[in-house]
Amino acid sequence: MNYKRFEKYFLKTYKRYNVLFVKGKGKYLYDNNKKKYLDFFSGLSVCNLGHCDKELIKIVNNQIKTLWHCSNLYYTTPQLTLAKELIKKTFPSKVFFSNSGAEANECAIKLARKYGIKDKRYEIITFKNSFHGRTIATITATGQDKFHKGFQPLLEGFKYAEFNNINSVKKLLNKKTIAIMLEPIQGEGGIIPAEKSFLKELRFLCERNKLLLIFDEIQTGFGRTGELFAYQYYDTKPDIITLAKSIANGLPLAATIVDKKYSEIFDYSDHGSTFGGNLIACSAALYVLKKLNKNLLNQVKVVGEYFYKNLLELKNKYNFITLVRGVGLMLGMELNFPARKIVEECLKNGLVINVTQDKVLRFLPPLIITKKDIDFVIKTLDEIFKNL
Ligand SMILES: Cc1ncc(COP(=O)(O)O)c(C=O)c1O
Repeated sequence: MNYKRFEKYFLKTYKRYNVLFVKGKGKYLYDNNKKKYLDFFSGLSVCNLGHCDKELIKIVNNQIKTLWHCSNLYYTTPQLTLAKELIKKTFPSKVFFSNSGAEANECAIKLARKYGIKDKRYEIITFKNSFHGRTIATITATGQDKFHKGFQPLLEGFKYAEFNNINSVKKLLNKKTIAIMLEPIQGEGGIIPAEKSFLKELRFLCERNKLLLIFDEIQTGFGRTGELFAYQYYDTKPDIITLAKSIANGLPLAATIVDKKYSEIFDYSDHGSTFGGNLIACSAALYVLKKLNKNLLNQVKVVGEYFYKNLLELKNKYNFITLVRGVGLMLGMELNFPARKIVEECLKNGLVINVTQDKVLRFLPPLIITKKDIDFVIKTLDEIFKNL
């Protein structure tokens, strides 16, 4: 098929692979020729429970038949139940619902600025190599030049520290600083986990300087690390968590969870969203939370360790693999050459994986995979690497 002809319909933003997916079921995707692919990307950590889950279809259908939108000017049961459940699973807090990760972060940034207004503090320290979204505020928060290029002037008030380097954070701290915002594991940046001690030091720094600690858990949330949220894996509590991606297993939804201490900063009309907290998506999210029980989270830990161990064995075999890193089922393998061709070879072999930062193979499989699926992935990669 000549995929190039589709390009006339789209703005040039995505460099797509030559495949046309038409169906998904569990951990598999199917293309227009009925070819089956094992999905080790989950639509970028979104369909964490796999595609087209039968029970979820029922829930979504029921909600469609009942009510799917009615404005945030009114109370609705799916939103209420989900907010209550999210608070129960995190810490005493209040929730704002939106539609995407960038919006969840925008909400956190606005709230931090409003918190700082009384003593003229507005600067937010984020990190080099981070990724927080594509709006003007969130590309500014993102500490990578490539996302800034062409969109200047950016927003005032963001400073970029070195990840896992507390002294670099301290150097940027001044009387205008109001918050520190980071991904506990940098995803787009190449699957780079924070060090546990680093997050503890950040928590301490925030305490001492009355700063908000904001965790962008848009990629790490909802079981990816083997804990419901990465902050639980790190045993470091943030003041704000931003969530999106897998929250509703593929329906657009996002949430900004704000510790009770800071939950009265926004006043009526300070923020809002027409579609935020869509009722179908909220019903789906309730199902996601129910499914992410101890058993499934433990399974993520077990298969995650198995996957990591097997990736390390590949690293020992091929000297062009420079690093393997990650937590749970959020794993990366760095090569010493551009890895897009490996992703293309995987597609030919019925496997969907991703590359980020040009050279890092990124694995974000659905949380329902088994050791047998990992064996298939390792065997496929081994064959491809052998023939390079
Ligand atoms: C850590 C992180 N934050 C924010 C975003 C932006 O989310 P969205 O694309 O839903 O706006 C992403 C998306 O990849 C992400 O990985």
